[in-house]
Amino acid sequence: MNPDIEEVLISAEEIDAAVKRLGQELTKDYQDKNPVVVCILRGSVVFLADLVRQMQCPLEIDFMDLSSYGGGMESSGQVKILKDLDTDVAGRHVIIVEDIVDTGNTLAKIHDLFLHRQAESVKVVSFLNKPERRTANVTVDYVGVEIPDKFVVGYGMDFDEQYRGLPYIGILKPNVYAHLFN
Ligand code: PRP
Ligand code: MN
Ligand code: MG
Repeated sequence: MNPDIEEVLISAEEIDAAVKRLGQELTKDYQDKNPVVVCILRGSVVFLADLVRQMQCPLEIDFMDLSSYGGGMESSGQVKILKDLDTDVAGRHVIIVEDIVDTGNTLAKIHDLFLHRQAESVKVVSFLNKPERRTANVTVDYVGVEIPDKFVVGYGMDFDEQYRGLPYIGILKPNVYAHLFN
């Protein structure tokens, strides 16, 4: 295990089972809809790659880069569009893929944006949901695992751009980020 990890919260096997379940649900709900699956960079790339391989239906993939956290651990509340979609979503069924929904700020911004662009439907699938931290009024339609208010890394999620490649989701040792509070 990575020496900076205090505890594995969700193992690779548990991730696999949750992704398979989500893939089955989405396969059923989007069978004839050719959805645009929108990956929110960068955290959700790992989940996206696993999820689309569990969706047995026609679909398209596009990417959007938004940022709220910067290098720190707390959401700044400011969400910027760094890269927009290339796809015109008017009349399309959009599935927003997130690794985690925390305050909900990121999601609130793009959910309304896609509706404004006249998407036929907009749903959200997030691997993790941290409802205790929610400040924006958003709905996560498909959730992999609900977690308590702990700072987690791995399976795409970073601390200061590190740990995204870990195949499990873990809690960082406090000494890794202690310098931020000095
Ligand atoms: C993280 C995470 C979600 C968002 C969730 O992304 O991947 O996209 O924050 O937080 P919220 O619900 O409070 O908005 P981040 O902005 O850190 O960018 P990254 O995916 O590139 O790490
Ligand atoms: Mn993200
Ligand atoms: Mg981040």
